[in-house]
Amino acid sequence: MDKLDVLAIGELNVDLILNEIDGEVEVGKEKLAGNMSLTLGSSTAIFASNLSSLGAKVGFLGKVGVDAFGEFVTQKLAGRGIDTSLVIAEKSLSTGATVVLNYGEDRAMVTHPGAMDFLSMKDITDEHLASAKHIHFSSLFLQAGLKKDIHRLFAKAQALGLTTSLDTQWDPAEKWEFDFESILPFVDVFLPNETELLHLTNTATVEAAIEKLKPYVRNLAVKRGNKGSVLYRPGQELLELSGYLNTDVVDAIGAGDSFNAGFIYKYVNGTSLEECLDFANLTGALNTTAVGGTGAFASKELLSEIALRKFNISIDF
Ligand SMILES: Nc1ncnc2c1ncn2[C@@H]1O[C@H](COP(=O)(O)OP(=O)(O)OP(=O)(O)O)[C@@H](O)[C@H]1O
Ligand SMILES: [Mg+2]
Repeated sequence: MDKLDVLAIGELNVDLILNEIDGEVEVGKEKLAGNMSLTLGSSTAIFASNLSSLGAKVGFLGKVGVDAFGEFVTQKLAGRGIDTSLVIAEKSLSTGATVVLNYGEDRAMVTHPGAMDFLSMKDITDEHLASAKHIHFSSLFLQAGLKKDIHRLFAKAQALGLTTSLDTQWDPAEKWEFDFESILPFVDVFLPNETELLHLTNTATVEAAIEKLKPYVRNLAVKRGNKGSVLYRPGQELLELSGYLNTDVVDAIGAGDSFNAGFIYKYVNGTSLEECLDFANLTGALNTTAVGGTGAFASKELLSEIALRKFNISIDF
């Protein structure tokens, strides 16, 4: 059987997104939301879904409960063409959920991790890893069962000949415990956003963060919201791309995951890192033109249509 281009390993949950909220929420009071939607949540799943929509062959390894939310996310993944045979459904667990209170380009979120806490190294065999050419892992701080072993996972993947990528995402505990010396040498593409990078390295600027990571990091793409992104490659000048500004943002939910999907789509095809970054900026921007993390990625036709209409770019699939 042909190998997967990418095996996404990580958390699965649903997002209940509330929009048009009439003011900031306060404990003891009730607010109304103008509309709501239940969507595929979780950074790793949005990444996998959008990467598959771009045309890569994607599998997912993660954990859910035996419940309605678990079925919902598994079906959503399968519906976008993802191999879900490595999604583990466990009776004793419940599938996680995030309530997203969306305010324009920013949002407040509350997550119940549920089953995502329980994915561990025991669930990931050499055989699973060897079924793919690349692994992507996201949301390090949400995955208590894997966090301490993450360097082992990446080292194992590289030893088996895979390339690897990591997006730590935000640390809800804001402790930012990240052993970059032991993890980053095994990460081919590191994909934090700017704020996360500064927290992870305890520095004040991207330049200072890079200085600190230099002995360990391979390729680093830093997401900067509507300012685009920056790429660091060992021994080369920083590449700063301003991106494809969308001044009419529907919401920025999943923009970072869509950026990752665009980057890795090109990366696994052996495209130059400059082109990976440029395409990542485009897929990040495309994400902001439709509701939620996967709305703009319903099909290649839709992506092409939006790219042309909004950014005057024709995507060469
Ligand atoms: N308003 C915008 N216009 C154009 N591009 C955008 C806009 N917002 C985000 N992007 C693109 O999406 C990328 C990722 O966005 P962002 O920096 O918000 O990631 P993130 O904070 O990791 O997001 P997430 O919350 O999904 O993890 C940016 O680097 C940029 O390329
Ligand atoms: Mg992010």
